[in-house]
Amino acid sequence: MIIRKILLLGILLLGTDQPCGATSLAEQFKQAGYVEICDTKHGSATFDSLYTYFDELIAFFQANPWWAQKLYSAKERFIRSHNRHYYATDFFGFYDESERAGRSQISFYYSMHFHEFIYSRYPEFKEVHEIMHFFNACFEIQKSYEHLFNEAATELGLETIFSSQNGHPPIILKIIKYLPSYVPTRPHYDGTALTLFLHSTDDQSLLLSPYKSSCTVDDFSAPVRKFSRSYNQNSILLIPGLLLTEFSMYPTPHIVIHNGTVRYATIAFAMRPYYLAQKNELSPLPNFNH
Ligand SMILES: [Fe+2]
Repeated sequence: MIIRKILLLGILLLGTDQPCGATSLAEQFKQAGYVEICDTKHGSATFDSLYTYFDELIAFFQANPWWAQKLYSAKERFIRSHNRHYYATDFFGFYDESERAGRSQISFYYSMHFHEFIYSRYPEFKEVHEIMHFFNACFEIQKSYEHLFNEAATELGLETIFSSQNGHPPIILKIIKYLPSYVPTRPHYDGTALTLFLHSTDDQSLLLSPYKSSCTVDDFSAPVRKFSRSYNQNSILLIPGLLLTEFSMYPTPHIVIHNGTVRYATIAFAMRPYYLAQKNELSPLPNFNH
């Protein structure tokens, strides 16, 4: 069981009250939609400093749109390389939607390959402190959690799902800042194999529901955390995305609701290498905007 494996590693503890004959990971996904993991590697200190670097990066790009444009051009070049197929997505880099009504958010999609690509093809980015600090912080965080995706895949009986010749599994780290005017509409499913909600400054705003053939607004709630958050300890949630339906694992719908303040969050997405998206017929999701 992943629980014993992780205990032995002495790194993480899965959140369960069942001491023996513990429910499998697939079963926990089915019943609750998520598993909670206690992370004793990083706590508030790591993420607070990541958000400080993110704010500095946002301020830099907003004051220097030429650099934001340059990063966008680099991203366009990156997704024309073989890496686009490795990650099977076009989402990389900086997305400033602070002025878009309802969206009111700013996000960055980081990957180690994107980082390497930028530094090798555009070395001038290394000279910008705001970019360097942010990239370094993302690198360290992503590196810390790679093994967790591999262990979860093993526990699910999908050992080979992330294997490739490419060195790192296709993981994208998303750092997001929701502004007070952010207004959500509908829950969504992630277009990932697995998603880790690594940290947020307000956990109560993240609502989940286990997958159901039909669900309503009332099915969604904020998971009760068993692990407290402190300077060097953190509570993480692992959920399935929609790239595992061929294995009869269905994605967990979720939504970040409006809380009227600034909210930061860090999420890690595990994609499937060189995966061609299938057409999925998933349950429709309810509208929260009423
Ligand atoms: Fe999501």
